[in-house]
Amino acid sequence: MKEKRSSFSGSIGFVLAAAGSAVGVGNIWRFPYLCAKDGGGLFLLVYLVLVLTFGFVLLTTDVAIGRKTKKNALKAFEELNPKWKFLGRLTFLVPVLIMTYYSVIGGWITKYLFVYLVSDGIEAAVDGYFTSFITSDIAPIVFMLIFLALTAWIVFRGVEKGIEKFSKIIMPGLILLIVIIAIFCLTLTNTAPDGTVRTGMQGLAVYLKPDFHGLTVKRFLEILLDAMSQLFFSLSVSMGIMITYGSYVKNDIDLNKATNQIEIFDTGVAILAGMMIIPAVFVFLGNDGMASGPSLIFISLPKVFDAMGVFGRPAAIAFFLMMGFAALTSCVSVMETLVANGMELYHKPRKKMCGVVGIYSFITAVLICLGYNKLYFELKLPNGSVGQLLDVMDYISNSFLMPFISLLTSILIGWVIGPDWIIGEVERNGEKFKRAGMYRFMIRYVVPVVMLVLFLVSTGFADLIA
Ligand code: PHE
Repeated sequence: MKEKRSSFSGSIGFVLAAAGSAVGVGNIWRFPYLCAKDGGGLFLLVYLVLVLTFGFVLLTTDVAIGRKTKKNALKAFEELNPKWKFLGRLTFLVPVLIMTYYSVIGGWITKYLFVYLVSDGIEAAVDGYFTSFITSDIAPIVFMLIFLALTAWIVFRGVEKGIEKFSKIIMPGLILLIVIIAIFCLTLTNTAPDGTVRTGMQGLAVYLKPDFHGLTVKRFLEILLDAMSQLFFSLSVSMGIMITYGSYVKNDIDLNKATNQIEIFDTGVAILAGMMIIPAVFVFLGNDGMASGPSLIFISLPKVFDAMGVFGRPAAIAFFLMMGFAALTSCVSVMETLVANGMELYHKPRKKMCGVVGIYSFITAVLICLGYNKLYFELKLPNGSVGQLLDVMDYISNSFLMPFISLLTSILIGWVIGPDWIIGEVERNGEKFKRAGMYRFMIRYVVPVVMLVLFLVSTGFADLIA
C-alpha cells in the first residue's frame, strides 16, 4: 500500500524541524569543549567562517537533492545517476548506525532529569555515580526505552502532526531555557578554597577572547579539522537526514533563506551553550574543569550544580530538560529517516515501518547498553582513542563514513551531475541564488580536497603516510 507523500506545512515548520535535528548533544557537549581547547574566540571565528562556506554548501546540497527528487537517500542517489546507487546505500548506513546509540544517550539524559526531579540530586555529584549507572543491568535499558518510546510516538504521528508540530513547541522552549540558563551562568561568582574569586563574566572572557598563544601552522590545522568535523555532526549533513527533510519541502519555499535560518539556529545554540557551560565550569571547577562528551554533562556539571547551592536543583532541571529536548528532536530525525527510506523501498505504510524500525532500534540499543556491562570491551580506534561499543558505532558513522560520503557527494554533484542541477533547484521558487558562484567553486574544488584530508586524518591514514 502506498501512502500519499507528506510535507511540512510551510517554511517555519521545515526550518524548526531541521534545526531540531541539527541542534543536539553535539552543540552542548562538544562545541563548548572544543572552544575551550582550541583557543576560545579563535575557534569560534574559524567555525563561523566554515559554517558560512562549507556548512552552507553541504546543507544546501542535501536539502536540494531531497526536494528535487522528492525521495530519500536510498532512491535519490539512484535517480541522480544509477551508477551512484551505492552512495545512497552508504548514506543510509549512517542513520542505521546512529540509531543504535542515540536513544541510549537520550536515556542517560532522561535518567538525570528524573533524578533531579525526584530528589535534590546530590548523589549525582558523587564520584563514580555515572559509571555505576551506565554499567548497571537494568536502569540504562529502562530509561533508554522511555526515550525511544517518545521518539517513536512522534515519528508514528507523521511529518506534519508529529515532527513539525513537536518541533514548533520544543525548539522555542529550548531557546528560552538556554537563554535563561546562559544569563544565570554569567551572573555566577564563587570563591575557591585558595581564596581566588572567579566570576561568570571572567569565564565569558575565557570563552570569547581569541588565544593565539603558541599558534603554529600545525596547531592551526588541528583547530581547522576539529571545527570541520564538529560542523558535519552538528548540521546533520551527509547522513541522508537533510535529504529526507528536504523531500518534505514544498516547491515554493525559498531554500536559500531556509538553509541560512537553519545554520543561524544551530550555530546560535552552540554559541549560547558555550556561554552557559564555559562560565559555569570556570567559576566552580576552574580552568582545568572542562571535559568533553558524556563526562562534561554527566560528571562535571552535576558537581557544578552541587556547588550552586539552592539554585543547583532548578538549574539542573532546566538544563536536563533543555538537553532532553535537543536530543529528542535529533533522535526523531534519525528515526524518521529510517522509517521514510523503508516506506519508500518496501511500499509499506508509516505505522508498519515504525514498528519495524522501533524493534530494530530497541534491540540494537539494548546491545549498546550492554556494551558497558556484559559486552564490555576496550578497542583502540584508528584515531587513537579507546572505546566501547557505543564509541565504535560513533567512530564508524562520524569519523569514517561522513567525510567519505561528503567527498563522494561533492564529486558526484561537482563533476558528474554538475552544480547547476542544485543551483536550478535552489532558484526554483524564482528567487536568485546569490551565492551560486561560491557554491560552484566550493563543491567542485574545495570540498573534495578538504574532505579527503579530513577522511585521511580522522581514520588515522594520515599518520601512516606521515
Ligand atoms: N546534529 C546533532 C548534534 O549536533 C547530532 C545528530 C547526529 C543528530 C546525527 C541527528 C543525527 O548533536
